[in-house]
Amino acid sequence: MRVACSTRSLTLAGFFLALSLAHAHAARLAVRIEHRWNGQPLPIGEVALRNDAGNELSVTRLAYLLSSAKLQRADGSWLAANDWFAFIDAAKQRTEFSLGDVPAGRYSAIRFDLGLDPAADKSDPAKRAADHPLNPNVNGLHWSWRGGYVFLAIEGRWRQRDGELGGYSYHLAGQACRGTIEVPADLDLSGNALVTLVFDAEKIFGAQHHIDIANAPSTHSRTGDDLAPRLADNAVRAFALARVEPDLRPAGKRSAVTLPGGLDVKIPAHFPQANWPADNLPTAGGVALGERLFHDPRLSINNSQSCASCHDPTFAFADPRPVSSGAEGQRGSRNAMPLFNLAWKPSFFWDGRAPSVRAQVLMPIQDPLEMHESLGHALAKLVADPKYPDEFERVFGSREITADRLARALEQFLLTRISADAKIDRVLRGDAQLTGEEQRGFNLFFSESDPAHGIRGADCFHCHGGANFTNNQFLNNGLDADDTRADAGRAQFTGAAQDRGCFMVPSLRNVALTAPYMHDGRFKTLDEVIEHYDDGVQRSATLDPNLAKHLPWKGLGLSADEKRALVALLRTLPDDGFSGHR
Ligand code: HEC
Ligand code: HEC
Repeated sequence: MRVACSTRSLTLAGFFLALSLAHAHAARLAVRIEHRWNGQPLPIGEVALRNDAGNELSVTRLAYLLSSAKLQRADGSWLAANDWFAFIDAAKQRTEFSLGDVPAGRYSAIRFDLGLDPAADKSDPAKRAADHPLNPNVNGLHWSWRGGYVFLAIEGRWRQRDGELGGYSYHLAGQACRGTIEVPADLDLSGNALVTLVFDAEKIFGAQHHIDIANAPSTHSRTGDDLAPRLADNAVRAFALARVEPDLRPAGKRSAVTLPGGLDVKIPAHFPQANWPADNLPTAGGVALGERLFHDPRLSINNSQSCASCHDPTFAFADPRPVSSGAEGQRGSRNAMPLFNLAWKPSFFWDGRAPSVRAQVLMPIQDPLEMHESLGHALAKLVADPKYPDEFERVFGSREITADRLARALEQFLLTRISADAKIDRVLRGDAQLTGEEQRGFNLFFSESDPAHGIRGADCFHCHGGANFTNNQFLNNGLDADDTRADAGRAQFTGAAQDRGCFMVPSLRNVALTAPYMHDGRFKTLDEVIEHYDDGVQRSATLDPNLAKHLPWKGLGLSADEKRALVALLRTLPDDGFSGHR
């Protein structure tokens, strides 16, 4: 998405997020739900669970709607939140909600409904805002033409008596099943607080009523169906308080998420939600295995080259050579990309030809210009290793080493390379300040160039905006004219004329560490990059309008001071604590 509005002198906080200053007499109350199975983190999608009835099963979906939140005051009365709803989805890691600003004080219990009152249930879903918990696009729980919401969906696979995998699907809806969850908690809301609740999914199958999937693999809560109320009664009993702690995070969003796999991942407040693959959530063991594989030269034809040979951890996993050479010295054609924050990318490679990290990681092993090994050989070498089969067993449950497991381990390692603690992030948290020159660079970076109206800007933010300094699009930034272009870029993959010369807009995080620059490593320094944008942009049919608009053709016309300021800003983007930067 592009930011179209013109922006003049910006403050840092104002651009990233409107930091709402908390009222002195109000406290923010956030609630996070940890999904468990018999006390352990709930693994989504693995047929590795067992319920009281002896069914062997998986949970592939656990999603529900909460409403009517209330807090009990010291005098026993209840303070009700107005028109309040929350949508929770365990598989999508949507597990936190806010009760908003609450009058400061002490409270003794928290309560909400599992389900919706009749008015909300029958309300028009088309009238809900795009991000509202009751918007069907958000929750996928509306019954469309029939009307009303499913307020709890739990689905999965289970092993039938004949050994085959069947499916179960329980959808709770309507008023007969609606229940109230009440959790006693000593809440000191003199400041912001975070309440963690546990929802133990095992209890859905047996907290009070025993559910045997073999007898009842589905319900849609039709009148007369006695399974739905029993499931609902169990579900209400599945919630318990885990802990209450002060919430020190900036307003509005999360600062660290615990993935259902159990791994704590530090993600700052100004990052959008990432799309973690629900069927391959990183675990500590999987990440460690992936890291070992990433550094293992046996994945290449002559055991000479590992992934790290071209993706050097010291340089945020980029390659200091303009173009990489392969295991047999073959010369590649593109600059190896840095590897961080891949969980926020929609597709991979300079041209986007890989749809996921999992699909991507097997390609360099087989690429004739890179490691040039067959998957069969590579796997055979791993199988012959004294340690790998045990490690694969610990992570995946058996000693088999398959291409899919190799890809999953590498995916877990790469998706957890998160870089989010550059100076610019510390400034945003209030822990550091930009120098005058950096602030000037910031203002230029995030401003339109509009000389006719006296606005000095460098227009970078159209393409390099957002928390990761990229809009994740494939665009032409004018490196070459049509007749001098050596690499067709995205058009090589899509075949579309409008993609000629378009490349993935790279994140500028860590950019001071990842020289040389551009898909072919043509610029050695950041100064050369700025010179390019200042007056080196080449016209062609697909040049992005945000650069093509600098007409009459004079380029940005930056002064020497302004160029230095832009470079100073780019130098605030490396993350010294990034795990890849040792
Ligand atoms: C010979 C050098 C070389 C080796 C070895 C290599 N890569 Fe790469 N890698 C590259 C280059 C070059 C690109 C960009 C290629 C392109 O866009 O066509 C790239 C791109 C990537 C990307 C895409 C990143 C993004 O932001 O889109 C990932 C992920 C990646 N490599 C992972 C790996 C893994 C995992 C291995 C080991 C199995 C590996 N690479 C081995 C050179 C290498
Ligand atoms: C029209 C979109 C667009 C605009 C505007 C834009 N860029 Fe870029 N930028 C790109 C694309 C696309 C690439 C990668 C091009 C390639 O390699 O072929 C890129 C690459 C870069 C790189 C190299 C990163 C790397 O890892 O190789 C830097 C640095 C950079 N831009 C900085 C800036 C600055 C500073 C501005 C403002 C003066 C700016 N860009 C304006 C699209 C844009």
